[in-house]
Amino acid sequence: MIESIKRLVGNKKREQGKKELLEQIKKAPLPEHVAIITDGNGRWAKKRGLPRTAGHAAGMKRVREVIREADNLGIKVLTFYSFSTENWKRPQEEVEYLMKLPIEFLKTGLKELVERNVKVQMLGEKSKTPTQTQQALIKFEEETKHNTGLILNFAINYGSRDEILRAVKNIIDDVQNGHIDKEEIDEQTMNRYLLTKGLPDPDLVIRTSGEIRVSNFLLWQLAYSELLFTDTMWPDFTIEHFHQAIAEFQRRSRRFGAV
Ligand code: IPE
Ligand code: IPE
Ligand code: MG
Repeated sequence: MIESIKRLVGNKKREQGKKELLEQIKKAPLPEHVAIITDGNGRWAKKRGLPRTAGHAAGMKRVREVIREADNLGIKVLTFYSFSTENWKRPQEEVEYLMKLPIEFLKTGLKELVERNVKVQMLGEKSKTPTQTQQALIKFEEETKHNTGLILNFAINYGSRDEILRAVKNIIDDVQNGHIDKEEIDEQTMNRYLLTKGLPDPDLVIRTSGEIRVSNFLLWQLAYSELLFTDTMWPDFTIEHFHQAIAEFQRRSRRFGAV
């Protein structure tokens, strides 16, 4: 009896704490662009004796929750690193599963994104993905292209070095065909040739699973991002963790080289 009362009181305190955290983060400026390296799905599954694919399924649920919360909070841009240009090296079965996730998400998640006025964009070369995946990715973009709310990017078959190389090649082409003058190339020019064209740089980059590296993600764009590494595996990353990450961002002092 006493134990259950203690548990009730404990739960109530935790709920109160969560509410206070939310109130607190709403008072300070939010990051405009949050980018997340959703890592640790495989290890999360392995620890539970499940196949890696079960980790990806659990991770997908967290992706949906974080999208909702970012939208609720009024964050402008949210980017997920979902599949890197290096992830093709994984076992075929796992790659196939990962490529099916957008198809599944289209069926069960597009409606809500449309209702929420979310604009979905893909970063990465879609043409290398299986036909059905490609169609799903295109459909997401098509169906949401006039939306004016949260900009939601999925980096799929994305690699930052690849992105930078393409930008450089396209700039060279445009210098040669006279569209731009070599002397006028500056950081803004580069920004226009990257896949993140028109988007603000990430203010906050979160990586889950305890790995402290960026794994070929937005190398140009994260020059001045606040980086946050957490040991939490992505399928365990709750809304409360998301709020804590934002609170941590709000405690940081960003100087951009100034004093
Ligand atoms: C992240 O989880 C998802 C993708 C890279 C697609 P992982 O699959 O990398 O999980 P770990 O790092 O092996 O635990
Ligand atoms: C980074 O995770 C890419 C994604 C989350 C999609 P990885 O698991 O592929 O990165 P490494 O291999 O640990 O650097
Ligand atoms: Mg990983």
